[in-house]
Amino acid sequence: MFQPNAVTLLIWITHLQTADQLDVNECQSGSHDCHSSASCFNSPGSFQCVCKAGHTGDGRNCTDVNECQSGSHDCHSSASCFNSPGSFQCVCKDGLTGDGRNCSVIDVCVNNPCGPNASCTQQDRSFRCSCVTGYSWNGSVCTGV
Ligand SMILES: *[C@@H]1O[C@H](CO)[C@@H](O)[C@H](O)[C@H]1NC(C)=O
Ligand SMILES: *[C@@H]1O[C@H](CO)[C@@H](O)[C@H](O)[C@H]1NC(C)=O
Ligand SMILES: *[C@@H]1O[C@H](CO)[C@@H](O)[C@H](O)[C@H]1NC(C)=O
Ligand SMILES: *[C@@H]1O[C@H](CO)[C@@H](O)[C@H](O)[C@H]1NC(C)=O
Repeated sequence: MFQPNAVTLLIWITHLQTADQLDVNECQSGSHDCHSSASCFNSPGSFQCVCKAGHTGDGRNCTDVNECQSGSHDCHSSASCFNSPGSFQCVCKDGLTGDGRNCSVIDVCVNNPCGPNASCTQQDRSFRCSCVTGYSWNGSVCTGV
């Protein structure tokens, strides 16, 4: 088994330092040929180019992935998908609310716009109020008769 003594250890460390000093960091020096949409990774004596997220290619040439066309987006079925360099956006269609990944019909009754003694019924994007038995609509609220 290899038992490094002080001398071999010193040689080994000196060798490592020399190799380290000899390595040109192409990523820092700018002598790499990675694409502008790629990440550069330095390695001893070499470097690697890897296309960034949302891009495809060999690292020397990276092209945008159109997630909206390729179907790799996760937009809701009721959302519109918009491609952008390296990414995409999901926007709920008109009349719907949500973050684009999840769209639901706008609940116009959620804050009880009809007030007390009334029931709220959604009709598309508007609502209809009906007073409970014994109450009638006075133009703005249900009042007892
Ligand atoms: C990069 O790749 C795309 C898609 O494969 C190709 O159309 C384009 O010509 C390439 N560009 C270069 C500079 O190689
Ligand atoms: C979508 O949103 C609704 C209303 O906020 C919620 O009840 C539901 O759990 C959500 N679904 C997903 C998959 O996030
Ligand atoms: C009418 O509204 C008031 C105030 O919220 C409530 O206390 C009462 O019970 C309601 N009456 C009926 C019949 O729902
Ligand atoms: C309806 O009733 C409420 C509560 O009694 C009152 O404040 C309001 O002025 C009334 N509105 C009309 C149009 O009569």
